[in-house]
This record gives sequence, structure tokens and C-alpha cells, in this order.
Amino acid sequence: MSAPRKLHIKSYGCQMNVYDAQRMVDTLAPEGFVETANADDADLVILNTCHIREKASEKVYSELGRLREAKDLAAQSGRTVTIAVAGCVAQAEGQEIIRRAPVVDVVVGPQSYHHLPQLLARAERQGRALDTEFPLDDKFNFLAPPKPAAIRARGVSSFVTVQEGCDKFCTFCVVPYTRGTEVSRPVARIVDDVKRLADNGVREITLIGQNVNAFHGDGPDGKPWPLGKLLHHLAEIPGIVRLRYSTSHPRDVEDSLIDAHRDLPALMPFVHLPVQSGSDRILAAMNRKHTADDYRRIIDRFRAACEDIAFSSDFIVGFPGESDQDFAATLALVAQIGYAGAYSFKYSPRPGTPAADMQEMVATAVMDERLARLQELIDSQQSAFNKATIGKTVDVLFERPARNPGQIVGRTAYLQPAHVMAGPDIIGQVLPVKIDSLERYSLLGALATSAASSAEIRSATASPAMTTGA
Ligand code: SAH
Ligand code: SF4
Ligand code: F3S
Repeated sequence: MSAPRKLHIKSYGCQMNVYDAQRMVDTLAPEGFVETANADDADLVILNTCHIREKASEKVYSELGRLREAKDLAAQSGRTVTIAVAGCVAQAEGQEIIRRAPVVDVVVGPQSYHHLPQLLARAERQGRALDTEFPLDDKFNFLAPPKPAAIRARGVSSFVTVQEGCDKFCTFCVVPYTRGTEVSRPVARIVDDVKRLADNGVREITLIGQNVNAFHGDGPDGKPWPLGKLLHHLAEIPGIVRLRYSTSHPRDVEDSLIDAHRDLPALMPFVHLPVQSGSDRILAAMNRKHTADDYRRIIDRFRAACEDIAFSSDFIVGFPGESDQDFAATLALVAQIGYAGAYSFKYSPRPGTPAADMQEMVATAVMDERLARLQELIDSQQSAFNKATIGKTVDVLFERPARNPGQIVGRTAYLQPAHVMAGPDIIGQVLPVKIDSLERYSLLGALATSAASSAEIRSATASPAMTTGA
């Protein structure tokens, strides 16, 4: 029997890439590949790239420089290392990668991962393989969309893709070009995936998509189902105690989704709802198709349905034409909403997007200053949010042993990591934890079961998790 070949995947970018990396591992397992955390002893290295900002894209070429040295070194000892570039940079600039980086053996875009074994075989025969037949028509539709394969269970929490691609065409964004048009998976397939994952120990499902609440997959009744209806259905699956979804667009928040937050205890009260800017002028130039007030009203609808709901967001500072006044509107919106956390980025012009042709670039120094001010405000909101947890008893889904011996780590409803001293038997369970302190972003506490007040016991037993026991 031949020794297993070692595979190392380095992923950049969004959760879709994390999911895709798992899919690639599963696709290559029958070919005799096992995953390794160490790039240096891998027989196959896959860079799973992101094209969203210039910095992310450039990482590919600097990483390829390092890999060339590793490949040469391995060759000296008679070992062949295969290098593949996957992800959104592969999709956007496959030809250029082949031209610029002779070290690369295979280039494969996100729609072609199921062809990886054939592409590797082709590269072995011919030296290199570029998946040039990215089957896009002139509207960026995939001519033959593949069926995204389900991934196997890896621990307590799992992603499940429900839709891919985006039709929104925000003027700054490459995603509609790299991931193609918006496609939803049929409900029955998603339900099968979730059941199988639940049978294999998964307790928490995060439904993912570039635009997850644009979901409109065919239901068993032959009609398209909105995300809220799908969530209601998934909440019934035995073993599933927590549901999440990401990333949402403000334009696609339907009543069924709001209702799901009111009706489903399993649906976590934490929503990532990117707004990008607080200025209507900039939002229009971004083609976001909503105003700052639309966004405020959407937040109000969520809050009316679920009082302990919290939000995170994405922001871009320095979009072309952004004035001091526009930026002040962003700060005002953040101050008014109050986030549990948020990501903020300096605008990065992306080739081929409409905003890249806009003239009024904001000076780098101004962008830097705005980013620092915005991040300071967001950080203060995040730390206030985390500090407010101290002294409270909160539900934690335990995931794995922590780095400190004897500790188990899990996550609260708001994805805050929480550590307790306990045995590994609590992994897979949701248990109330009395939070004592906060260390950077991690909460430390103790299981509250023994000393729980009657109210806590009531709320704990009301949670379906308590009956599950992994
Ligand atoms: N689908 C999601 C997010 C996609 S990309 C949504 O619609 O919100 C993740 C984040 O990267 C975006 O929310 C945006 O804040 C940021 N981003 C995208 N393109 C960018 C660019 N050209 N420059 C800077 N940030 C960008
Ligand atoms: Fe990009 Fe806009 Fe689509 Fe989000 S909604 S992926 S920001 S085009
Ligand atoms: Fe990046 Fe592609 Fe995701 S560009 S953010 S990896 S969809």
C-alpha cells in the first residue's frame, strides 16, 4: 500500500473559503490525501485565495515566492511538491497566475473543486493544469453550476452552504465576478446535510452564503422557501440546538426571518448585518440600494422581535468621494446602533468594479485617520458588550478542550469564547456558565449547574440542548 500523500490548505478570506477548504479535503481523501497542518512536509499545497481587497490578493504572490523555495528544497531530496491556487484570485486571474508564477501546477476556481482529482492528474501528465473552462457566460452565470458537495462532520459546529454567489453588484465588490450569480440549494438537500451532520455529533449549524438571506431554494412543496422558513424547518431536526446564518444583506431581510428570531430559541440572537456606511450619498454611490434609515428600521424590527439580539457589521472608510460629513454620518450610525463588534476596512479599488473608475479618491492619510477613529469607537462598543457579560449566567455550547489543561472552551450565543474547568464530557452540550472575568476577548467562568438559582435551572431545562447530551 502506498503511503498517504499529505495535503496542506492555506485559506484566506471569508467563511465560504473555510467551507470550501473542508470540501477540498473531503474530495481528495478518497485519492489518498491526508491533511497536514505543516506546509513544509506537504506533497500538495493549496492556496485558497481571496480577491476582496488588494492586500488579500497580493498575499498569493508573496506566499508563492516562499513556496517556490520549499518546492526547490524538496526537489533536491527527490520529493515532488505540487502547488495549486484555488479560490477567488484563481477565478479572477487564473491566466495571470500561470504566467507570473511558474511554481504553480494547478489553478482551480471555486466552481470546479469537484474536478480537483482530474486536474491533479492532468498536471502530472502535462506539467500544469489551468481550469480555464470556468463556465461563465457574459452575465457571470455559471453554465453548469456544480452541486456543492456536503462536508463531513468536524466537531460540534459546522457550516452548511445554502446559497452561493451574489447579484447585488455593490460598486466596490468583486464577489459577483468571482463567485457568479446567486444560486440557492434545494431545501431537501440542505435538510439531508444537516441531518447527517447532526447524526455525526454536530450541534450547531451556521448556514452560509455570500448573501445568505437572499436564499430562495426550492422547497418540498415546489415553491421557493425564504431563509426564515428554512430556519423554522431546520430547528426541528433532533440534535441541532443552535442555528446561525451569515452573511446577510439589509435589502433581503424578510418578515419570515424576523419571525424566526421571535419564534426559535435555537436561532442565536446575533446577526452580522453589514451596512458599509452611514451616509446615504455614499450608500447610493456604493449601489447598496438602502439608506441609513432603512437600515435603522431593519435593526428596529429585529429588536422588536427579540430583545436580547445583538449585531455586528462591516464598514468601508474612504470610499471615493467620502467627505468628512459622510464619515461623520457613519460614526453617528455606529453610535446609535451600538454593535457587539464590527469589521472595518479601508476602501481598496478592485480591477473591473465600477468604483475603481471613480475619480474622487480619498487620500491615504485621511483614510488611515478615519479607520482609526471608527475602530476606536467599535472597540469601545465591543469591550462594553463583553464586559456586560461579567457576573451574568449565560448559555455556552462547549466545543473542545482549551489550550490550558483541564479547561474546556465553548461559545456564548454571541460567539464570545468562554472557558471553564470541566471534563471533556461536556463537549457538545449547552450549559449555563457563570461568567467571572474577561481576558482580552475570552470569558472565564464556572459551570452554574450546581449552584444554579431556580430561574437558571428553568431557563436551562427550557433549552432543548439539555436533553441532547452529545
Ligand atoms: N456579502 C457580504 C460581504 C462580502 S465581502 C455583504 O454584502 O455585506 C466582506 C466585506 O469586505 C464587505 O462587507 C466590505 O465591507 C468589505 N469589502 C468588500 N469589497 C471591498 C473593497 N473593495 N475595499 C474595501 N473593503 C471591501
Ligand atoms: Fe459584495 Fe455587495 Fe454582494 Fe456583499 S452584497 S457580496 S458587498 S456585491
Ligand atoms: Fe474573498 Fe472570495 Fe470570500 S473574494 S471574501 S474569498 S467570496
